[in-house]
Amino acid sequence: MRVLLAGGAGYIGTHTAVSLLDAGHDVVLLDDLSGTHAVAAERVETITGRAAPLVVGDAADDAVVTTAFDEHGPFDAIIHFAAFKAVGESTQKPLEYYANNLDSTFALLRVGLERGIRSFVFSSSATVYSDPADLPFTEESSTSVDLSNPYGKTKRMNEVILADIARVHPELNVTVLRYFNPVGAHPSGLIGEDPAGTPNNLMPYVSRVAIGTLDRVGIFGSDYDTPDGTGLRDYIHVVDLAEGHVAALEKAEPGYVVYNLGTGLPVSVLELVAAFERAIGRDLPKQMMNRRPGDVAASYCDPAKARRDLGWVTKRGIDDACRDYWHWQQSNPSGYAGA
Ligand code: WQD
Repeated sequence: MRVLLAGGAGYIGTHTAVSLLDAGHDVVLLDDLSGTHAVAAERVETITGRAAPLVVGDAADDAVVTTAFDEHGPFDAIIHFAAFKAVGESTQKPLEYYANNLDSTFALLRVGLERGIRSFVFSSSATVYSDPADLPFTEESSTSVDLSNPYGKTKRMNEVILADIARVHPELNVTVLRYFNPVGAHPSGLIGEDPAGTPNNLMPYVSRVAIGTLDRVGIFGSDYDTPDGTGLRDYIHVVDLAEGHVAALEKAEPGYVVYNLGTGLPVSVLELVAAFERAIGRDLPKQMMNRRPGDVAASYCDPAKARRDLGWVTKRGIDDACRDYWHWQQSNPSGYAGA
């Protein structure tokens, strides 16, 4: 298959590009480099020994998407990773988030449908699940568009829009992948997560404490109704997540389908920090803090549908993820900018 990866130079995009190339598919990356660097695409080529051409531009611009098709098409499929993803920032910049995260879908669909793509895969999020009584979340668990932040709302809005598009294009496969918490990095240490500024997410924050650019890990809430009082999440190694995209694309049949991509194993904040401490062989400074507004006590999935329909299972655990993240962090202390 020949696949256009919008947002393909980002964290999940680069790992998926590697997995697709390793599986014998061809990829082209489209990225405006607002959240990453061109070197990330070069690293994909270094790892795989295959070409990963990068088109620099905005996936929300029809002319840019058209150029990608003209210069590198035709494509069998588009995977749409291109989005703003900072939850807190989205509450301050709702217009930017709604515009970017929806316009990109519209532009990719307009051009992609005109050019005859057979499959459209969308990066959604576990954040669309709304009712803790449904844990572990299955694809049938209740979802809401009335989420606590615009980022999450754009994910659910995109899903609703894509279901309507699939209805009027019965020949098209639309696959929605609901990611739980992606962590880790490629074991080569060449690609990984490269957040700008102070990280919002747990593993990148812990890693910055480990490398010494941040003082201590703040534990956001120790009074949740969970075994150790800290939040429970379903941390999935980014290479397992990438392989989930390959499995979904190879299976793609006409129609709209949703899969959870997670491990099914709830892990607490304290357990994740302890795993990172094992990986680096020393303790890290930690401090109990108040709950972070908008956080839920627990979020983890039932991954049975992806296992059954795609034959996909996660193969890596949090110890692998911490080791691989730390290898990436140590090899690239200031991320791609230092390359
Ligand atoms: C995990 C746990 C925190 C940082 C978010 C988005 C989601 C998705 C992934 C991405 C929670 C705790 C965190 C810290 C802490 N979006 N924590 N100290 O909130 O589950 O998911 O990122 O693009 O849509 O909502 O992930 O990594 O921020 O937090 O104690 O410094 O770690 O309270 O329990 P989250 P996270």
